[in-house]
Amino acid sequence: GNIHHLDFILEEKNYTRLCATKSMLVVNGMFPGPTIRVRKGDTVYVNAINRGPYGVTLHWHGVMQPRNSWSDGPEYITQCAIQPGTNFTYEIDFSTEEGTVWWHAHSDWTRSSVHGAIVVHPSEGTTYPFPEPDGEEVLVLGSWYTGDVNEMVQADLKAGDDLPDSEAYTINGQPGDFCPCSSDSTYRWHVDYGKTYLLRILNADMNAELFMAIAGHNITIVGSDGAYVKPFVTNYIMISPGRTIDALLTANQTPSHYYIVARQYNSGIISYKVFDHTNASAILQYNGNYTAPDKPEFPTTLPSYYAIDATVNFTMQFRSLADEDHAIDVPLNITTRMFITASVNELGEKSYLRMSSSFNNISWVNPPVDVLTAYYRNMSGYYTSDFPDEPPAFFDFTGMLSANTSASDFGTRVKVLNYGEEVEIVFQGTNVINASINHPMHLHGYTFYVVGQGQGNFDGEKDPKTYNLVDPPQLNTISSPKNGWVTLRFKADNPGVWLLHCHLDRHLSWGMNTVLIVKNGPTAETSLREPPANMPSCAIESNIKEA
Ligand code: C2O
Ligand code: CU
Repeated sequence: GNIHHLDFILEEKNYTRLCATKSMLVVNGMFPGPTIRVRKGDTVYVNAINRGPYGVTLHWHGVMQPRNSWSDGPEYITQCAIQPGTNFTYEIDFSTEEGTVWWHAHSDWTRSSVHGAIVVHPSEGTTYPFPEPDGEEVLVLGSWYTGDVNEMVQADLKAGDDLPDSEAYTINGQPGDFCPCSSDSTYRWHVDYGKTYLLRILNADMNAELFMAIAGHNITIVGSDGAYVKPFVTNYIMISPGRTIDALLTANQTPSHYYIVARQYNSGIISYKVFDHTNASAILQYNGNYTAPDKPEFPTTLPSYYAIDATVNFTMQFRSLADEDHAIDVPLNITTRMFITASVNELGEKSYLRMSSSFNNISWVNPPVDVLTAYYRNMSGYYTSDFPDEPPAFFDFTGMLSANTSASDFGTRVKVLNYGEEVEIVFQGTNVINASINHPMHLHGYTFYVVGQGQGNFDGEKDPKTYNLVDPPQLNTISSPKNGWVTLRFKADNPGVWLLHCHLDRHLSWGMNTVLIVKNGPTAETSLREPPANMPSCAIESNIKEA
C-alpha cells in the first residue's frame, strides 16, 4: 500500500450557528474535520499539532490498529493528552477495513467539534462488491452546543448535575432549515439525474441515536463499520453514535430538491427530556434546469422519535457478505464468556455525589497513568485485573431496583484475555433507576460478529438457539437494546490494550466502560509493538514519575 503523511492542526476558531458565535477547537480550520481518503493496505501518519488551549487525543474509530495500541488514542487508556504546544504522530494501518470508518478526539467531550470521516477505497486492482458508483458523498451527522462543551461538562460533573444536551443536530456541520438562523447555510448535496452515488454516513453525535431519511428516495445499504454487507433496500436508517453506514442512492426521481432529515431515536422513557427535538436537515438537489416547488419535499418515511419497531426492523437486516471474496470466521469454540450488564446508576452513595454508569455495576475510574503504559512497563497500582465476568447477584435486569442497590461501585478493573481466545460477550440492558435506554457498545482494536439480539432478559437456554453463525454482521459498534440483550463474538488475536465502552458520551463520562487487555501471542508477530519514542507522557498532568 501507499504511505501518506498528514498534518492535523488543532486550533480554536469562531463558528456561528443558531444565531450565536463561539470559538471551538477544530482540525485544520474545518468543522466537521477533514476526510481522510486511502486505499485498503495504506498507512497514514497523522501529525497532531496541538495549538489549542487544552490537551487532546485522537482516535481512529473502526481501525483495528494491529498490535499498535500506542496509536489508538483514548485518554488514560492508551496515552495521555497531547499538551498545548506539543505534537504527536499517530500511525494508522489500514490493512483490515474497507468502506467508511472515522476519526475523533477521545479526550473530554472534544469530539463534538473534532471529528471527520475516513474513506477506505478498495485496494489497487480490486473493486467494490457492487457496480462502481458514479460519485460519492460523505454525510457527517453531529451535534451543536451553543456553549463551551468541555466547560459545561466539567461544571456539571462537579455539581453532580445531568450532562449537557445539544441545541441541535447537524448534517455536515449545519443544523439546516428547521433551526433558527440556519436556512442560509443548509448543506446542499448536488446530484446529476441518472447517476448512482455511494453515500458514506456516520453518526458523530455525542449522545443521540438518529433516524435519517431522504425524501422520495430509497437507498441500498451496502456496508457498515468498514465492512460490506448483503445489500438491502430501505427508505430510512437508524444510526447509533460511532456507527457508519454505506449506501447507494440513484438520482432517478423527478429533478427537484428533496430534504434529507435526521432526528433523534429516543429509546429512553417518554417523560425523560433528553436532547433537542428539532429535525436537522440538508437538501438533495438535482443539477440542471427545472421548476421545483418552493419548499423541498419532506421525507414521509422518517420514523417518529420513539419508533422502536423501526429501529429493530432496520437493525436486524444487517448480514455479512460471507462469500468467497469476503470470508468470515465466526468463533465457534468459545473459551471466554462474559455477561455484562449496562446500567445508569444513582448518585454513588459510597463515593462522591454524581450520577454514574456502569458495566457489571462497576463504574470505571481513569487511572493517573494510562493503562497501556502501566501494563507495558509492569507498573503496579494503576489498575486491577479483576473485572468480573458476571454482574452481582442482586441484578434483576429489566426490573426496577430499589434505591439501596442502585448505586454502583467504582474501580479501574480490566479484563485480561489470553492471545487467541474465542470470546463471547452478552450485553444486557437494565432498568436501574428506571433509566433503561439503548447503549451503543463499541470495542477498540476489533470488529465483532453480532450473532444475536433480543428483548427482555437474556435466556441462556433458549436465546443461543437463535444465533446467526452463518452470516452475522461484522461491526465495531452495536446498540445493546433498551431492556434487551445483544451477543457478540470475536477472536482475541490483536494483542494490546483496548477500550470497550458505550458510545453515548454522557454514559462514558459516568463510567460505562472497561478495558480488555489481550496478552501477547507466542511470536514477535503476535505481540504488542514497542512504543514510539515520543508517547505523550502522563507525568506532565499528574506529576507522577513513570517507572
Ligand atoms: Cu468512537 Cu472509543 O470511540
Ligand atoms: Cu450508554
